[in-house]
Amino acid sequence: MKFLKGNYGWMLVAILAILPLFVIFSMVQIDVTNGLSITLIEGAGSEGMTTLEMMYHVSGEFAIRWMTAVLTCTPFFILFGISNLFVRQAMGIATAVWSLLHFVIFLFAEGFLETFTQVNYVAGFVAVLIVIPLMITSNRRSMKKLKSKWKKLQSFSYAAIFLSLLHVALLDKTWVIYAVIVGIGFVIRIPYIKDRIIRFRKNRKAVTA
Ligand code: HEM
Repeated sequence: MKFLKGNYGWMLVAILAILPLFVIFSMVQIDVTNGLSITLIEGAGSEGMTTLEMMYHVSGEFAIRWMTAVLTCTPFFILFGISNLFVRQAMGIATAVWSLLHFVIFLFAEGFLETFTQVNYVAGFVAVLIVIPLMITSNRRSMKKLKSKWKKLQSFSYAAIFLSLLHVALLDKTWVIYAVIVGIGFVIRIPYIKDRIIRFRKNRKAVTA
C-alpha cells in the first residue's frame, strides 16, 4: 500500500502508455513458424483508414501527445508547485517509445531511405534522434553526472517538439492544439511571469496557512 501511494504517478503513466500498444499489436500478425514474419491484418483500420494509415495515426498521435505532456511538467510545477521526477521520466520514456515505434512502422512499410525523400519525414527523423538521448539521460544519475550540461541537453526537447510539430503541420494533420498547449507552457516559463506566479502561489499559501 505504501509502495502504491508513493509510486502511483509513474505507474499510471506506464499503464496509459502501454495500453494503446495493444491496438497496434492487434493490427499485425506475427508468424515464427518459418522465421520471423510480420504482416498487417487487412481491414484493421477504422474511419476509412487502411491498417497502415491507422498504425501511423495511432503511433504518431501518442508520440506527439506524450511529447506535449512531458513539456507541460515544468509549467505544471510553476503553477501548482508539484513535480515528480519519476512521472517526468516515465513520460519521457513513453514519448521515446511511441516515437520510435512510429518510425519502426515507417521503416517496415517504406524503408530507411524513404525518410530522406520529404522535408516532413526528415524533421520527424531528427526529432526521433533527439528524443533518444533525452530518454537515456532523464534520471537522477545522469543529472548528477552531467551537472550543468544536463539542463542544456534537456533543452533540446524544445527542438524536438518544434520539429515534430513541423512534421505534423506539413502532413496537414492535427497540430494546432499541441502547439497551443506547448506555447502556453513557454509563456508560463518566461522568468518575469514565472516569478510572479510563484510569488502569488507562495503568498496565497501563507495566507491560508
Ligand atoms: C523518422 C521519423 C518519422 C517518420 C518517417 C514519420 C512518418 C510519418 C508518416 C508516413 C505519417 C502518415 C502520413 C499520412 O497519413 O499522410 C506520419 C504521421 C504522423 N506523425 Fe510521423 N513520422 C516520424 C516522426 C514523428 C514524430 C517524432 C512525431 C511526434 C512526436 C510524429 C507524429 C506524427 C503524427 C501526429 C502524425 C499524424 C497522424 C494522424 O493523425 O494520422 N511523427 N508520420
